[in-house]
Amino acid sequence: MTSTTAIGAALGKEIAERIDLLAGISESADQLTRVFLSSEHRAAAELIQSWMEAAGMAARMDAIGNVIGRYEADTPKLPALLLGSHFDSVRNAGKWDGPLGVITAIACVADLNRRRKRLPFAIEVAAFADEEGVRFASTLLGSRAVAGTFDESVLATRDRDGVTMREALERFGLDPTHIGAAARAPSEFLAYLELHIEQGPVLEAEGLPVGVVTAISGATRLSVTLDGMAGHAGTVPMAMRRDALAGAAECIVAIEQQCKNDIGLFGTVGSIRADPGATNVIPGRCAFTVDMRCASDQHRRLAVTSAVRTIERIAKMRGLSPQVDITHESRTVPCADWLQAQISAAIERQGHRTLALPSGAGHDGAAIADLTDIAMIFIRCRGGVSHHPDEHVTPQDVATGAQVLLDVIENFAPKARGGVQ
Ligand code: GLV
Ligand code: MN
Ligand code: MN
Repeated sequence: MTSTTAIGAALGKEIAERIDLLAGISESADQLTRVFLSSEHRAAAELIQSWMEAAGMAARMDAIGNVIGRYEADTPKLPALLLGSHFDSVRNAGKWDGPLGVITAIACVADLNRRRKRLPFAIEVAAFADEEGVRFASTLLGSRAVAGTFDESVLATRDRDGVTMREALERFGLDPTHIGAAARAPSEFLAYLELHIEQGPVLEAEGLPVGVVTAISGATRLSVTLDGMAGHAGTVPMAMRRDALAGAAECIVAIEQQCKNDIGLFGTVGSIRADPGATNVIPGRCAFTVDMRCASDQHRRLAVTSAVRTIERIAKMRGLSPQVDITHESRTVPCADWLQAQISAAIERQGHRTLALPSGAGHDGAAIADLTDIAMIFIRCRGGVSHHPDEHVTPQDVATGAQVLLDVIENFAPKARGGVQ
C-alpha cells in the first residue's frame, strides 16, 4: 500500500533537491568525496546551518565541527528529542548515506515550524561531521564528541598527507584542546532517532519502503604495517626477498577466506599502500586496513584475534616485521525497545507493514547510545547498493520516510523516568 500524502510528497521533493545540492559539495567534480575538516566540510556545514535556521532552529557549529540546530518546545529549555545523521562521505560515495537523515530531520522541523507547531519537548538536529572515518582511520568522531567519549589520543593520528588531526582542527579554525565542549549531558535528551538508507537488500526484497532497526553491529578496524626490505626488482633473487606487498597480499586473501568460512562475519581490506611505490623496486613496506564486523561482539573479538595471528604467522614466514594497531572498536548496540515500538506504530499508521532488521553498517547512533536511548528508521535503497555512486532512493520512499519520521516526532512519548514502557 502506498499512502504518500501531499505534505509527504512536498517534503520528499524538498529533501531530494537538497540531497543534490549537498552532493555538489565535493573535493572533485566527477566524484562525491567530502571528508572531515576539509573545505567541503566547511561549505556543507554552512549550507546545513542555513537550512536549520530557515526551519526555525537556532543553529551553530560545535567544537568538533558538527552542526547542531535546536527547535524549542512550547516552553524554553526543555530536554530534546535528538535527530540526526552525518554529512561526511566515503571516497566516490553515493549521495544518500548520511545526508538523508540530516536533511529529512530538518525538513520535519521545517514542517512543524510552517504550521507554528511546538511540542512539549525540544527537538535538536545533529549533523555529524565525521562518521565514516575516511581521513583519520578513526570513525564516529562527531557523535563521540557529543556523547563525551571522544578519545583524545586520536588527535595524533595522521591523514595520508601526514597532517595530524590536531593540526587539521587548528587549520579548520577549531581548538583541539576544547573538543570536550562538544559533549552534552544525558539529562539534555529524551532519545535519539536516526533515519538512514538501509545499505542492504532486505527491504527491497520484502517490498517495503521503511523498516525499524533492532541493533547496530559492532566493528573493529585495524591498521597493519608490514616492514620488509626494499631492493632492486632485477637483481634480488626471488628466494631472498622480503617483499612487504606480497606478504600483505597473502594476509588479505587469508582474511577473506577466514570470513567466507565463518557465517555472520564480514571482513574487508579497503585500503592499501606500498612503499616506495615504484615499478622496479621491491616494496619494503606495506600498510593496509582491516574492517571486521559481526552482530555478536564475542564472535567478532575471536575472529579479530585469529586474523591478527594469521598476519603474524605470514609475516614471520616471510621475514617481515608486523605492526598491528586497533584504530576503531565499537560494540553491538541495541536499539531501545520502547523507541522501536513507537517507530513501528508510526510505520503502521502510515499504511505499511513493519519489518524489524539489524544494521550491519555502523551509524552515529552507536556512539550516541552512551548519551541516551537510540533507535533507527531504515529507508529502502535500490539493489541494496551503498558506498558507491549508484546509491539510489526513490522520491516516493523519501516521502514515506519523511512522513514516518514526522509521525514519530508528533506522537513521541518520552520514556517514563525510572520506569519501562
Ligand atoms: C559506515 O558507513 C560504516 O558502516 O563503516
Ligand atoms: Mn557510510
Ligand atoms: Mn552512514
